[in-house]
Amino acid sequence: MGNSKRQARLKAMGITVWERRDRPSASPGSPPSAAVGDWDRLSEEVRSCTQCPLHAGRTQTVFGVGPRVAQWFFVGEAPGAEEDRRGEPFVGRAGRLLDAMLRALGLDRQEVFIANVLKCRPPGNRDPEASEVASCLPFLRAQIAAVRPRILVALGRFAAQSLLSTEQPLSRLRGGVHEYDGIPVIVTYHPAYLLRRPADKAAAWADLKRARGIVHHE
Ligand code: URA
Repeated sequence: MGNSKRQARLKAMGITVWERRDRPSASPGSPPSAAVGDWDRLSEEVRSCTQCPLHAGRTQTVFGVGPRVAQWFFVGEAPGAEEDRRGEPFVGRAGRLLDAMLRALGLDRQEVFIANVLKCRPPGNRDPEASEVASCLPFLRAQIAAVRPRILVALGRFAAQSLLSTEQPLSRLRGGVHEYDGIPVIVTYHPAYLLRRPADKAAAWADLKRARGIVHHE
């Protein structure tokens, strides 16, 4: 992507960053480790899951979106009202910012995998409970094992703590490179937080550039 186009996209994200280096051309992600049948079974298991009380209040489950082979895997917290209605993660205001962040990276929503820790909406968008995470996390683990991305990006404290099995605060988790099952993990701010605190978008962009450097071995 040309520099001026990237600048325009960063502007859409609400930040100005001088970025000289062009993104190297994309190379294919690693092949999926699970057969298509396994993937279909997983998606059906999620669709019909009644393991925790959240199933009672959902319109539908939100499995996640993206290709079966993806270099990038973004992990959010849980579906909100719009996601519950449409069955797709990050389709509300926070999702539109996530899309802008992806575009700034030269990525399209269609080429990355996006999923949440929880597949059902917590009522009133309350924080997920530990028992709900315990029930739902195996689905995310199975998705990651199948997609085998080059990078996992944890969006916000909740995704990071769940993925990394830690209680460390976001301030400690951001800035470094973690590992989940041999896959590098970058922790950044949740887009919904960035909508409230636009001043932190520059720091989020630095996180994403670090992730991009890992994907492209920069
Ligand atoms: N916030 C999330 O964490 N996930 C969504 O899908 C939407 C908002």
